[in-house]
Amino acid sequence: MDFTGRTAIVTGGAKGIGRGCCELLAQNGANVVIADMNLEGAKEVEAALCEKGLSAKAVQVNVKSVADVRNMVKTAAGMFGSVDILINNAGILHTTPIEDVTEEEWDNIVDINLKSVFFATQAVLPYMREKQYGKVLNLSSLAGRNGGIANGLGYSATKAGIIGLTRGFASRLAKDGINVNAIAPGSTDTGILDTLPQEKIDDLVSKIPLGRFGKTEEIANVAVFLCSDEAAFVTGAVVDVNGGMYFG
Ligand SMILES: NC(=O)c1ccc[n+]([C@@H]2O[C@H](COP(=O)([O-])OP(=O)(O)OC[C@H]3O[C@@H](n4cnc5c(N)ncnc54)[C@H](O)[C@@H]3O)[C@@H](O)[C@H]2O)c1
Repeated sequence: MDFTGRTAIVTGGAKGIGRGCCELLAQNGANVVIADMNLEGAKEVEAALCEKGLSAKAVQVNVKSVADVRNMVKTAAGMFGSVDILINNAGILHTTPIEDVTEEEWDNIVDINLKSVFFATQAVLPYMREKQYGKVLNLSSLAGRNGGIANGLGYSATKAGIIGLTRGFASRLAKDGINVNAIAPGSTDTGILDTLPQEKIDDLVSKIPLGRFGKTEEIANVAVFLCSDEAAFVTGAVVDVNGGMYFG
């Protein structure tokens, strides 16, 4: 994979899967915009990549805000000239039982996990259309495929919604040279699972045929491949990366 001359925005790039994507893209030549609510964390990633002579810039964004998302894209294009790749990775998990979910909690998870994917993709379109080239990769989840096991239903709903957006964008944007794909990871060893009680974690591991959680880099490998020219004929796909928990 060679991303030389390409500019990639990774939302939620300060840690976990997003950080893994930033590292892999930068190692393969991309200018990487690490876009995260956690500016300090994003700056740490920027420093670590720049120290290796790679090209990276941290940008603060709360993907819940459409104005912030538009500003993120404008800033990225201002820094590097355009935007070629967008990885919609920022997301939150919740574990609230059905009967306890409030309207505020529901709206919050929908805004962060789903609304952001639509508006970030909308915001990069002018740049990608101009070049007739673009790659959008969305982070769905196994929970969007099977309804989820340990998570709240707001999470499952947003991750299923991302599959609908991925396919809808893919069919509408193919004529503009833009590939839109998603990956649906199973449980992956990042901070996002820290909110789950230990017995849920043990239960989850016991249900994974490969017998372990995924590693951040194993998810990033598939995400970044789908943003590469090697995957040029793939669009509208939802790739399961879950240790055998779900086959489609
Ligand atoms: N880890 C898993 O088991 C797993 C499984 C399936 C899907 N996913 C999805 O992969 C993506 C990344 O997950 P992860 O485990 O690496 O998460 P993580 O919690 O380790 O990291 C998420 C990053 O997103 C940032 N973020 C959160 N809310 C934000 C907001 N409103 N605006 C900007 N940045 C924000 C955080 O600051 C953090 O840096 C998420 O969309 C998640 O739903 C994760």
